[in-house]
Amino acid sequence: MSGHGAALPMTSHKSGPLRGQADVPGDKSISHRSLILGALSLGETRIQGLLEGDDVLDTGKAMQAFGAEVINHGGGAWSVHGVGVGGFAEPDHVIDCGNSGTGVRLIMGAMATSPIAATFTGDGSLNKRPMGRVTDPLALFGAQSYGRSEGRLPLTLIGAAQALPVRYEVPMPSAQVKSAVLLAGLNAPGQTVVIEKEATRDHTERMLVGFGAELTVEQTDAGRVITLTGQPELRPQDIIVPRDPSSAAFPVCAALIVEGSDVLVPNIGLNPTRAGLFYTLQEMGADLTFENMREEGGEPVADLRAKYSPDMQGIAVPPERAASMIDEYPILSVVASFAHGVTRMHGVKELRVKESDRIEAMATGLRAAGVTVQDGPDWWHVHGLGGAVKGGALAATHLDHRIAMSFLILGMGAREGMSIDDGGPVATSFPIFEPLMAALGASIARTSE
Ligand code: S3P
Repeated sequence: MSGHGAALPMTSHKSGPLRGQADVPGDKSISHRSLILGALSLGETRIQGLLEGDDVLDTGKAMQAFGAEVINHGGGAWSVHGVGVGGFAEPDHVIDCGNSGTGVRLIMGAMATSPIAATFTGDGSLNKRPMGRVTDPLALFGAQSYGRSEGRLPLTLIGAAQALPVRYEVPMPSAQVKSAVLLAGLNAPGQTVVIEKEATRDHTERMLVGFGAELTVEQTDAGRVITLTGQPELRPQDIIVPRDPSSAAFPVCAALIVEGSDVLVPNIGLNPTRAGLFYTLQEMGADLTFENMREEGGEPVADLRAKYSPDMQGIAVPPERAASMIDEYPILSVVASFAHGVTRMHGVKELRVKESDRIEAMATGLRAAGVTVQDGPDWWHVHGLGGAVKGGALAATHLDHRIAMSFLILGMGAREGMSIDDGGPVATSFPIFEPLMAALGASIARTSE
């Protein structure tokens, strides 16, 4: 499946019990950062379990355009020969980040304090998304950007020749913005300080420390204060990419809504900045257990076991949990449709500026499938039907992988199945979604064939 080609209509049907083991691919956030930090260190970084989805592959190509050597050794093993902090070369072509907000925002940060220019573009989804949230703080370092209105792509960024360190309070909960500022701070002299009111995923901080940067995190009344000392020499690393909890969410949630299911999803990182969905599901009464809890590479890891859960109840999801499950609201809204009572999701304005407006995209498709949904600027309520979801509609996926997968999962539990207009974008984050779900017993097909 490719997010760049012709639309790929797909349908899923009410499925028999889902059973077996789901080995989901590597973490998307950590895969992007492995390639970028590998490119910014001097020498060879080796990566195992890289997510070979379109988003990450686009970041790999971009790192090559900036002068790093990125080699695929097969079987999920990759290496990056980095050029060091401040060593990026000027690309001789436009950098196409495809569908990936993470890719483009982190790469803009990584180049913003080098005296080079680069032009960035993306697909129809990415070129609609706000980039001012990144170019504004990068301007404080001395970088200049020339984009379309509201800073949208295509955009040319001219890195600062003599960067200044920055103190920046991130105005919205965004790991991408935080990370862009930290990556820019790498090639600025002195200390760059980033303050975030609410904790967002902390992979950049953890990995920068792993690559040898001097970085401290302090919890204060103003939030998390992250201080990075600029111009370190990053040391190449051997990285084992953990499996992606955001991808694990799909087989887990499918098992909860499909009668008779029992699915094991092994080796999932439960970093507290990522695991909010699983705690939310447990609070709803899902039969979801964490087996073999352990620590790997300083992160909590468990095997997730999910079983059919016909008695789930809607809850009010605590808004302060939003950042730790921000990519999981679409699939949560599907589970909420099958639960009893109302699931209330508040403090989720950021969902409106993801790969699509995810509240709008899910609300429209859910309503077509017979579910009552109310929504406002930063909230939505899903009225559960206690398992009796009709389905039988065609949902528009708006070039958004998580919308596509969410509606295909809905169809596996709904009376009349569910169709989507385009499953192509699934390849951005979960290229083995179709065979993995089919092997569990899901009835899922490309309708154009
Ligand atoms: C990501 C951060 C989040 C998330 C995205 C991945 C990252 O975006 O939605 O899928 O890897 O830093 P925001 O920073 O826009 O919240």
